[in-house]
Amino acid sequence: MTQETLGPEPLSVFETWYAEALERATPFADAMTLATATREGRPSARTVLYKGLLDGGVCFVSNYSSQKGRELEQNPRAALVFFWATLNRQVRFEGRAERAPEEWSDRYFAARARSSQIGAWASAQSEEIAGREVLEARLAEVEARFEGQPVERPPLWGGYRLVPERVEFWLGQDARLHDRFSYRPSAQGWSCARLSP
Ligand SMILES: Cc1cc2nc3c(=O)[nH]c(=O)nc-3n(C[C@H](O)[C@H](O)[C@H](O)COP(=O)(O)O)c2cc1C
Repeated sequence: MTQETLGPEPLSVFETWYAEALERATPFADAMTLATATREGRPSARTVLYKGLLDGGVCFVSNYSSQKGRELEQNPRAALVFFWATLNRQVRFEGRAERAPEEWSDRYFAARARSSQIGAWASAQSEEIAGREVLEARLAEVEARFEGQPVERPPLWGGYRLVPERVEFWLGQDARLHDRFSYRPSAQGWSCARLSP
């Protein structure tokens, strides 16, 4: 594989690779690791699900007051990593994450299953809770509150968009001579360099 065969623009390459991961029925093809850090640079990482591209950014949804939400508020620098075992490929994004536009989050929330909508209200993500029964009681409360009506989006729940400043494609090859291509923005759009594996 060469830079020429990959193409000049990393988000298109990503879309092609993602489609190939789906075609191969890769388990959790949409799962990606999101790394964030506090203002002081203390890192943390967790899995989130990919929700599409928006204006040059990679989207996911979460709770804005979760640990990741608080860290992104202090420090928008973040990274995302996909690994697709069926293809032996990895894609890395590094950049800045910002909240997705309200209309995007509203639209996405409205399209979710009602149980997920209720769950978004019931869970104060990343807060300590005394037991599972607290969660179940909260769920019952929320169900009663919205009975017979649409569930509106919680103000502390919504999308993020990570706008990449670097995108790397890694393709496993024989004898550990793996291919790595690193894209960075340049005056002409994006420049691409091959990295040693
Ligand atoms: C397969 C998988 C998918 C997940 N998808 C999401 C997601 O899309 N959004 C989310 O907020 N958490 C998701 N989670 C839960 C997160 O990994 C994490 O536990 C949660 O967001 C709290 O993280 P935080 O305390 O670091 O903010 C997912 C977990 C797994 C294992």
